[in-house]
Amino acid sequence: MMNTDNVAAKIRALAKEKNAVILAHNYQLGEVQDIADFVGDSLELSQKAAASGAKIIVFCGVHFMAETAAIIAPGSRVLLPDAHAGCPMADMITVAGLRRMKEQLPGRPVVCYVNSTAEVKAESDICCTSANAVKVVESIPNPEVIFVPDQYLGYYVQQQTDKRIHFWPGYCPTHARILPEHILELKAEHPNAKAMVHPECRPEVAAVADAVLSTGGMIRYAKNPAYNEFIVGTEMGIIHRLRKENPGKKFYPVSEQAVCPNMKLITLEKVLYTLETEQPEVKVPESVAEKARLAIERMLELKG
Ligand code: 13P
Ligand code: SF4
Repeated sequence: MMNTDNVAAKIRALAKEKNAVILAHNYQLGEVQDIADFVGDSLELSQKAAASGAKIIVFCGVHFMAETAAIIAPGSRVLLPDAHAGCPMADMITVAGLRRMKEQLPGRPVVCYVNSTAEVKAESDICCTSANAVKVVESIPNPEVIFVPDQYLGYYVQQQTDKRIHFWPGYCPTHARILPEHILELKAEHPNAKAMVHPECRPEVAAVADAVLSTGGMIRYAKNPAYNEFIVGTEMGIIHRLRKENPGKKFYPVSEQAVCPNMKLITLEKVLYTLETEQPEVKVPESVAEKARLAIERMLELKG
């Protein structure tokens, strides 16, 4: 059996040999983040995928992220080290369900959170991530929009905009486990700590936080020299990067239960196997990709 350092060294050598770029989400296991070329949030990773020009993209994240990369980087082979790494929120909406909603609410453009399938994106007008959801909704000229599938991100955006938002009742099971008392107990213990939470958290949780941020936003917020202690209301994997990039600062995860089991399916051994075999590949039929690409590109083209 090889140790972690040997596996990591083999991965790096093989990635170089094969002109492969390794992208990892902020929730990945620490050892996976450490061998990646780039670690980031959903928006940053889709921007990297679009610009990479690599022959192979190994996507260490969940299926919708790899699918998004495959759509916007059609010249690259996109590999997901575990084909079962899905996102339960993305599976909470179907094309048939979205079509019914569109029929009931005609004339309202559809804003689709990137945590969705390629087919749902293809039925939508524009995508968003947690980093740009407010900006995307504000960019739409219509006074009302349909927002799918995350109701909590939708509620968060509703508080920042005058537009009327029609929600789909999806949610992230990992973030739904985070409760306001988790934040309040930690605040009582660490009165100087800033509480940052993800907009996928329940509105009651966002209400007691100091900042509501995407995972990339949390990485930037933690670098503020004025703050030294943080309560972190999102998936536990981000703690690795926060601590690594901010030695001397303190980070308190809100709940040991805030773990995304799908993100944790990706291991170093699977990354190596994927590079060796160039499997499993994530492919999107061009008829779907063509429409979904429009929704993703509209988001990526938004400036400011
Ligand atoms: P970010 O885009 O903020 O990294 O979030 C992705 C995600 O899946 C959160 O659960
Ligand atoms: Fe999906 Fe939640 Fe996991 Fe993010 S943390 S990938 S939204 S299940």
